[in-house]
Amino acid sequence: MKIVCGSTSRGIAQDLSKVTGAEFIQASIKHFPDGEAYVRIEMDSLDDDVVIVQNSHPDSNLVEMLLLSNAARGLGASRIIMVIPYFGYARQDRRFNPGEALSAQVMLRHMEIESDKLLTVDLHKPDILKWFTKAPSKDVSAAPSIGRYFQGRGIELVLAPDIGAAGRAAEVAKMLGAETDHLIKTRLSGTEVNIAPSQVEAKDKRVLIVDDIISTGGTIIAATHELKRLGAKSVTAACTHGLFTCGALERLKAVCDIVVCTNTLESEASKISVAQEIAQAL
Ligand code: R5P
Repeated sequence: MKIVCGSTSRGIAQDLSKVTGAEFIQASIKHFPDGEAYVRIEMDSLDDDVVIVQNSHPDSNLVEMLLLSNAARGLGASRIIMVIPYFGYARQDRRFNPGEALSAQVMLRHMEIESDKLLTVDLHKPDILKWFTKAPSKDVSAAPSIGRYFQGRGIELVLAPDIGAAGRAAEVAKMLGAETDHLIKTRLSGTEVNIAPSQVEAKDKRVLIVDDIISTGGTIIAATHELKRLGAKSVTAACTHGLFTCGALERLKAVCDIVVCTNTLESEASKISVAQEIAQAL
């Protein structure tokens, strides 16, 4: 097995190579003067299973991923396994208004053409994988890696910001021997949410909030304010995909005690590697 990466996900690809013992290959990525991507895997042949580790976000990475897959096929790869740590367009999983594209389905249909197996990490709604019909696919949970990271760090209560994320929070809580609960979230706009406590008893506790994505930070900031109002001793925020749009990380650091995420998207906060979970799924 060979592990190839383009211009994203280098950390995960290298960790994956260490965990599996498979050779790591950094593809050469350049751009033509008109902006089009040029990719080359500098090998004579690849008569092996090839794992392409590449985010499909933003759009330029999606193009790179499709080109990398074709380059590997051209070198004779026996199977192409696509590992997409952060899958772009996963949240447009239905037509919310007439005339919209079913973006998640479009992406999966194109990936199906270029790959023989697909692994994703903490898709917002894993059931979109039903649109990847040709070959096996699996959505890998980052919860075990988040749980491992927080072992021994004194967390007493693990919270989900909404009921949809409650399973993930419960899985992390179980690994930490901590209590778990969820908050009640009402989205007011793209950047604003209202957070209300459910049964939460947060007073004097070291709280960890676990979510799949932090984008604008609106959810975590509102949750942190509420938990501090309820008397939490500390509030740590953790997520799988740290998108941190519009300066969110700086705003989060101003209100949370600690902010960390996995390395599906790389930033100063990506301290948790999901390579072990991906390796198991491979
Ligand atoms: C929504 O259901 C997701 O699980 C996240 O809570 C959401 O994407 C976070 O977005 P933001 O950081 O913009 O509040």
